[in-house]
Amino acid sequence: MSKTILWWNLLRSDDPRFVEEAARRGIADLRVGQPRFGSAAPEPCPAGRAARDRTEGLLSERERRVFDALRTPKRRQEWLLGRMVTKDLVRALLGTKGEAPLPAALTVAAAEDGSPYVALEGAGPLPVTVSLSHRAGLALCALVEAPGAPLGADLELCEPRPAGFAADFFTRAEVDSLPEAPEQARWRSVAEIWSLKESALKAVRLGLGADTRSVQVGARGAPEAGWSQAELELQLPSAPRRARGLARWHGAHVLTLAWLGDGRAVAKSISE
Ligand SMILES: CC(C)(COP(=O)(O)OP(=O)(O)OC[C@H]1O[C@@H](n2cnc3c(N)ncnc32)[C@H](O)[C@@H]1OP(=O)(O)O)[C@@H](O)C(=O)NCCC(=O)NCCS
Repeated sequence: MSKTILWWNLLRSDDPRFVEEAARRGIADLRVGQPRFGSAAPEPCPAGRAARDRTEGLLSERERRVFDALRTPKRRQEWLLGRMVTKDLVRALLGTKGEAPLPAALTVAAAEDGSPYVALEGAGPLPVTVSLSHRAGLALCALVEAPGAPLGADLELCEPRPAGFAADFFTRAEVDSLPEAPEQARWRSVAEIWSLKESALKAVRLGLGADTRSVQVGARGAPEAGWSQAELELQLPSAPRRARGLARWHGAHVLTLAWLGDGRAVAKSISE
């Protein structure tokens, strides 16, 4: 049976390279509020294998124009963190093939539907699929070495949600699967299910434009190398019926990946 590697990479907003980049661009470090569960700051991230060059020249000309048009410091910070985590991952993988483009030679752009892709200056879009997410001081990028692949990635925080959240956005079976107590276990399950749905909806490039109940998160298995497997059932015209989900906790954040392709999917960090 075929095996697909879902490469992943994390970056914190207090990573010194990011702090330097953000300061150069006039964005102060945006402290996140104290989450009710877990620590305020994301846990340390595994060190990537990307070349640790100075951040001058992080953005391509095209990205600089997009950045200049972003209005709020929060969006600017998240967007920038997303470019850095993605470029680190792409460069680490290209590095294993003997290629070493400078960060500014890569452009992380958005397709018409909003999904990201990576282009190399002078060569056009790279034959990879990336998916990214940013939440409360942390950014996640996942990558598959194939173009147009059904991959989605998402990050969420374990935190209390408004009353009726699960009833509005989850299927009946998902609501029934939530533990009543303790409270933290309930909100962890809510974060994990919500994030797996978002990952799946990113994999089909619909995002929250689709009904979140069109993805049902089923049985969640025992953790394997830090990741737990989840069964996903989709009811969307252009998607397979069954898909794979992966979830992993990182402090108060949950990382999820969704893979709608055939065969087994294995998550691998670039620091491994
Ligand atoms: C995709 C979406 C679910 C992201 O939600 P979020 O939790 O706010 O943000 P995340 O940090 O997890 O993800 C953001 C990233 O998703 C990616 N993304 C955006 N639209 C996407 C899509 N249709 N498919 C896959 N990925 C998408 C982008 O790379 C974005 O990061 P960037 O803008 O910095 O490059 C949401 O923006 C969305 O649903 N957008 C499309 C539909 C829409 O706008 N509907 C109206 C709102 S109901």
